[in-house]
Amino acid sequence: MRATIGTDPEEAARRLRAGELVALPTETVYGLGANALDPAAVAGIFAAKNRPRFDPLILHQSSAERALAWARRVPADAERLAACWPGPLTLVLERAAGVPDLVTAGLNTVALRVPAHPLTRTVLEAVEFPVAAPSANPFGYVSPVTAAHVAAQLGERVDYILDGGPCRVGVESTIVGFPGGRPTVLRKGGTPVERIEELLGTEVAVRTHGSSRPEAPGMLTHHYSPGLPLWLTENAPEPGTAERAAVRFGEPAGNAHEYTLSATGDLEEAARNLFGILRQLAEAGYGAAQVALVPERGLGRAINDRLRRAAERG
Ligand code: TXA
Ligand code: MG
Repeated sequence: MRATIGTDPEEAARRLRAGELVALPTETVYGLGANALDPAAVAGIFAAKNRPRFDPLILHQSSAERALAWARRVPADAERLAACWPGPLTLVLERAAGVPDLVTAGLNTVALRVPAHPLTRTVLEAVEFPVAAPSANPFGYVSPVTAAHVAAQLGERVDYILDGGPCRVGVESTIVGFPGGRPTVLRKGGTPVERIEELLGTEVAVRTHGSSRPEAPGMLTHHYSPGLPLWLTENAPEPGTAERAAVRFGEPAGNAHEYTLSATGDLEEAARNLFGILRQLAEAGYGAAQVALVPERGLGRAINDRLRRAAERG
């Protein structure tokens, strides 16, 4: 394996300054980071992930002030939402001069985020530049929530993996943009839509995956390949068998082929377990899995969104 795995934020910062690719823990999922102002380093992210160049990256910074400095203008609603930082929220705003084209894929907007993981906050405070970081998985696959997940899929293509333990939230950040001036959830994620609405004091538009043709790069519907066919059900799944595992939300029926997102029906625990369980199912070699959808509220919206994408055929 090419990557060194360690827990030293100073080393991570040093390597980022040297133009290397560094996997960073965040509260949502692990990111594949590089100096956003170094075109060769950013090109390295796209190459390592096999990611098409038209899919833009999120800029990560240590504070709201540093993040918002990359926006040409900050609408009052964006200012209000920045109260979620550090945390699992990404804001898409008009880009300031100086944001490299490669990062935004030529769009006139830029995605900004202040992650909450303490180790990565130390790294971001140490470096002088924003860190561009997509999730640290090959394009089209499930996001990594442990350093081992990153090592398994990208260990040959990354220089350093900063091991910050398992991710606390487990699904990617919620992305909010302002198309036509209207606050709009572009991706459901770790900040519940209810929380966004509470901060803004109004209902927000929510783009549903697969509801329309992409209007712009960055709004593409991503398929998350889980490595086996998933069958979703609104009801309780049938008992798991050696051929077809069952994934529940609640008490698992006691056999070896039963998995649960949360035995107690806790949506936050379910989000934390989601990507790890999908990986376990593929590794265990099941031909398929039947998975129960979770209640469509709080983090449940992001969980169901990821399950639907992962269940897509093709
Ligand atoms: O939680 C997260 O957001 C993680 C951690 C590492 O921060 N990052 C992450 O990045 O999920 P990524 O690249 O896997 O997903 C970011 C999404 C992509 O679907 C991209 O198309 C979209 O954000 N995006 C980036 N810039 C955009 C823009 N200017 N307008 C619309 N969408 C944008
Ligand atoms: Mg991703």
